[in-house]
Amino acid sequence: MPIPTVFKGRLSLPAIAAPMFLVSGPDLVIETCKAGVAGTFPTLNARTPAQLDEWLERIGGALGALGAAGGRASAHAPYGVNLILHATNPRLADDLALVERHRVPFVITSLGHPDEVVERVHAYGGLVFSDVIHAQHARKAAAAGVDGIIAVASGAGGHAGTQSAISLAREIRAFWHGVLVLAGAISDGAGVRAAEVLGADFAYMGTRFIATRESMADAAYKAMLLECTAAEIVYTDVISGTNANFMWPSLAQAGFERAALSAGTGKGKIHGIADEARAWRDVWSAGHGVSTIHDLPAVADLVERLAREYRAACDLPASPALRGG
Ligand SMILES: Cc1cc2nc3c(=O)[nH]c(=O)nc-3n(C[C@H](O)[C@H](O)[C@H](O)COP(=O)(O)O)c2cc1C
Repeated sequence: MPIPTVFKGRLSLPAIAAPMFLVSGPDLVIETCKAGVAGTFPTLNARTPAQLDEWLERIGGALGALGAAGGRASAHAPYGVNLILHATNPRLADDLALVERHRVPFVITSLGHPDEVVERVHAYGGLVFSDVIHAQHARKAAAAGVDGIIAVASGAGGHAGTQSAISLAREIRAFWHGVLVLAGAISDGAGVRAAEVLGADFAYMGTRFIATRESMADAAYKAMLLECTAAEIVYTDVISGTNANFMWPSLAQAGFERAALSAGTGKGKIHGIADEARAWRDVWSAGHGVSTIHDLPAVADLVERLAREYRAACDLPASPALRGG
C-alpha cells in the first residue's frame, strides 16, 4: 500500500502515538510530531469546544512554525484527532466543525459509522482512519470509504480487542488494501517492525507514550505503570460497560475486588461520557506493553531510541536454523 503523501518522508519510524483519554494533549502531540511520530489526541480531552479550538490553533501554529523555520513544510510528522462517534457524545457536531475549520490532517473515528466524517474530512483533503477490533468491523469501515483501518488487537491499552495481533492483522490484510495500522502492546522499535512484517503500514502505540514527561497522566499513574507487568493488567467491563484493560492496583485503590472482576461479575454501571470521565480519572488504563516500559523519558529521547530499535530490527538476518544458512 502506498503511504499517503502527508506521511511520506516525515517520520522517524512508522508509528502513530495513539489518542488517549485524559492523557494526550497539545504538549504530547507537538513533541511527538516534532520527533517524527504522528501525534494524536481525543477531542474530548479539551474540556470545551472553545478549548479544542485553542489546542488546534496551538498545535497548528507550533508545527507550522517549525516547518517554516526549517524551510520545509515536511519537517514534522502530521497530527490527528480522535472523534468518538457514539450517540452519547454531545460534542460531535461542534468538534467536527472545528476539525474542518483547522483542516486537521487525519481523523481517527471510534465507536460508530464514519460515513459523514469521511465525506466532510475528504472534502478538505484530510484522511480518515477507523479503529476496529474485528475483521467484520473493518469491512464496514472500508465500505464507508475510510483511508485507513486501525486494528486494535488483544493486550492493547483502552478498549482492546480479544484477537491476537498476528491473526487480526493477517485477516484484515487479506481483503484490505488501504492503510493498515496495528495496535496492541507495541512498546518498542522491534514491535513496530513486527507490525510491518505482519502487513501493517504503521504501528499504533498508546501505553508507551503515557510514560513520557509530556503526557498529561498523573505522576502516580506514571509511577504505577513502571511498577506493573502484564500479569497485573485486568480486562473488564466494570468501568465503561465495554471491556478495557486497566492496571489492577488502580482498580484495587478504587475498591474493586479482583475475584469478582475475573469472574466477569463486575457489570458496567457507568453510562454516558461524564460518568465515564470520572471513572477513568481514578482507574488507570494500560496495555500488556507495560512489561517492557521502565522509564519516563522526554518524547524526543523516546522516539530517538524507538527509531534505533526499529532500524536494528530491520537489519535482523534470517534465522541461522535455516537449511543451507
Ligand atoms: C489511558 C488510555 C486512554 C485511551 N483513550 C482512548 C480514546 O479516548 N480514544 C481511542 O480511540 N482510543 C483510546 N485508547 C486506545 C489507544 O488509542 C490505543 O488503541 C491503545 O493504547 C493501543 O494499545 P497500547 O496501549 O497497547 O499501545 C486509550 C488507551 C489508553 C491506554
